[in-house]
Amino acid sequence: MAQAQPTETVHPAQALLRVENLRKYYPKRSGLLQRVTGAVKAVDGVDFTIGEGETLGLVGESGCGKSTISSMIVGLNSPTGGSIHFDGLDITNLKRQHNGKLCRELQIVFQDPYSSLNPRMTIFETVAEPLVIHEGLAGTALRDRVMTLLAQVGLRDEHAGRYPSQFSGGQRQRIGIARALALNPRLIVLDEPVSALDVSIQAQILNLLKKLQRDLGLSYLFISHNLSVVRYMATRIAVMYLGRIVEVADRETLFAQPAHPYTRALLSSIPSDDPFVRVLGDRIKLAGDAPSPAAPPPGCPFHVRCFQAQPNCAVQVPDLTPRGTPAREVACHYPLTVSPKQQ
Ligand SMILES: Nc1ncnc2c1ncn2[C@@H]1O[C@H](COP(=O)(O)OP(=O)(O)O)[C@@H](O)[C@H]1O
Ligand code: SF4
Ligand SMILES: [Mg+2]
Repeated sequence: MAQAQPTETVHPAQALLRVENLRKYYPKRSGLLQRVTGAVKAVDGVDFTIGEGETLGLVGESGCGKSTISSMIVGLNSPTGGSIHFDGLDITNLKRQHNGKLCRELQIVFQDPYSSLNPRMTIFETVAEPLVIHEGLAGTALRDRVMTLLAQVGLRDEHAGRYPSQFSGGQRQRIGIARALALNPRLIVLDEPVSALDVSIQAQILNLLKKLQRDLGLSYLFISHNLSVVRYMATRIAVMYLGRIVEVADRETLFAQPAHPYTRALLSSIPSDDPFVRVLGDRIKLAGDAPSPAAPPPGCPFHVRCFQAQPNCAVQVPDLTPRGTPAREVACHYPLTVSPKQQ
């Protein structure tokens, strides 16, 4: 496979986070004895950067590898290959708990606010824990900092003594955000942070995240299977399919002129009454489910569902390559809306 080009709008030297050729292969087991018979290529050669203060959106169907990427970035999962650099430091195989800078500056908010909080800890204890462990705070200084954090996420002082079970999903997600903010992070990985919440609550949490980003200069990796939510949050968007990024572009370009047939199909699947999105042209229905990363098709991984496929798509793997004006990167032999001259 040819080397992918560095990612577009953020120069690698300025990137707060730089992910290169990142891979995660899980052992594929089969038969009665559960012998290893191959590999599940959950993430298969992913490159992207995130600049200081930027939100990169990562979008794709369930099972395409988004959470595997987020867990590798925050050190909960070790990569099979490739590299992750944070603020110029190679953190690919660094144990996070042994590095104070990483513990402080790189945080994650998980999808499920019901299982990500310890039910036996009060809200005060939950938010205070990282401050006690990493900053050695105690007494009034600790109390003041926790109350400031609770106020920043829209919770009140009297919430501090309660337990997670006494809160709604949206409030629990606020608590998770307060905990993630405790050590003044620079980058927060938000892995489907509103997907488990009622639609009516989602906008409140998204707006809170936007406000916190403005006030604190945070960078976000914002992950969702929902393209309209990603569009609301991210200035630049990477579209994933079966363990790979198939298109990266700034938000306006991606929505006005999607170049990858999969991006085009995702866009047309957004309901026409969606408040965030202008729907483009005819609807394109994707045929069938995404193939399994345990048995990816040869050639372009999208060819079995692609309305644009040609015979060589079943043979040749397309690499993510810079294409056209405005600039974007596309992994497709026959991209849409990119004229031959631009290619
Ligand atoms: N521990 C594991 N062992 C084997 N396969 C896994 C494991 N974790 C995830 N996978 C597989 O990796 C693929 C990507 O999963 P995931 O990263 O959770 O996707 P997403 O977050 O986009 O829904 C899926 O096919 C999933 O079944
Ligand atoms: S390479 Fe071929 S099959 Fe793959 S997305 Fe492009 S046109 Fe479709
Ligand atoms: Mg996930």
